[in-house]
Amino acid sequence: MKTAFITGAAGFLGSHLVDEMLGSGYRVMGYDNLSHGNLRNLEQARLHPRFSFHQGDVCDRNAIRKAVGSKIDVVLHLAAFKIPRYGNVTDTLLINSDGTLNVLQLAVEHGAKFVITSTSDVYGKNPVVPFSEESDSILGPPTISRWAYAASKLFDEHLVLAMSEEKGIPATVIRIFGSYGPRQNLSWWGGPQAVFIGTARSSTSAAMSRSRFWNSRKRFTGCAVCRGNCGCKCCRTTRLPGAFTKTCAGVFRT
Ligand SMILES: NC(=O)c1ccc[n+]([C@@H]2O[C@H](COP(=O)([O-])OP(=O)(O)OC[C@H]3O[C@@H](n4cnc5c(N)ncnc54)[C@H](O)[C@@H]3O)[C@@H](O)[C@H]2O)c1
Repeated sequence: MKTAFITGAAGFLGSHLVDEMLGSGYRVMGYDNLSHGNLRNLEQARLHPRFSFHQGDVCDRNAIRKAVGSKIDVVLHLAAFKIPRYGNVTDTLLINSDGTLNVLQLAVEHGAKFVITSTSDVYGKNPVVPFSEESDSILGPPTISRWAYAASKLFDEHLVLAMSEEKGIPATVIRIFGSYGPRQNLSWWGGPQAVFIGTARSSTSAAMSRSRFWNSRKRFTGCAVCRGNCGCKCCRTTRLPGAFTKTCAGVFRT
C-alpha cells in the first residue's frame, strides 16, 4: 500500500485532499500545526484506519522526521501562510521557504514524488489574460507587503523545479486560483470570496442588510485577481449607466 504525506492537512484544500487520497486507497499521514487549520475538517478522516494525524510545524525538520517514520511514496505540500494582509510578512516568507525546503528534502530522502500548491498570485499584475504556465510574473515593489506571498511562492516554484532536476525526484507545481467551498476559512484568510460568502452566511435576514453589504465592500479593497488597488487592468473599475460600478469581482451598486 502506498503512503502519502500531506502538509496543511487540516486546512481547507488539504483536508479535502486527505479524503481524496484515502478514497484512492492510500495510507495517509496528515501534518499540520493547526495555526489556521482545524481538526473539525478531519472529523471523518480521523475515523479511517488508514489515516494518522501529526501536529507539527513544517519549519521544524526534526518534528517532520519524527512524524514520518516509515517509507512514504508521495509528498503533497499544502502548508503555507497566505497573503499577509494583517501582518505575518516574516511568517509568510519563512514558512513558505524554510518549510518548503524541509518538506522537499524529506521527499528527496524517500525518493517520493513531490507536489506543491502554488498560487495564481505569482502572475502578479500581469494584465495579459488568460494566463498560461509561461506567462510573466509582474510583481509590485517589495515595499508593498502583499507581494511577499507571491515572492515566496515563486521561490518555492524555482526551488522545487531545481531540486527535482538535481536530485531526480518527480515533482509537480499546481497553481491554484481563488477557490471556495466547504471547510473554507470564512475570514480574509480564505481570500476575497470567503469574505462575501461569510458575510452572506452570517446575515440573519433573508436579504443581506445594506450596512453589512457596505461593510463587506469596505473590507474588499480590490479585485479577485490581484486583491489590491494596484492599478492593474483587473483593478480598473468601469462606471455603468445608473448607479452601478463594474469590477472584475462583480457589479456593485454605488
Ligand atoms: N484556497 C485557495 O483559493 C488557494 C489559492 C492559491 C493557492 N492556494 C494554496 O493552497 C494551499 C492550501 O490553501 P488553503 O486555502 O487550503 O489554506 P488553509 O489556510 O486552509 O490551509 C493551510 C494549512 O497549513 C497549515 N499551516 C500553516 N503554516 C504551517 C506550518 N508552519 N506548519 C504546519 N502547518 C502549517 C494551516 O494550519 C492550515 O491548516 C496553500 O499552499 C495555498 O498557498 C490556495
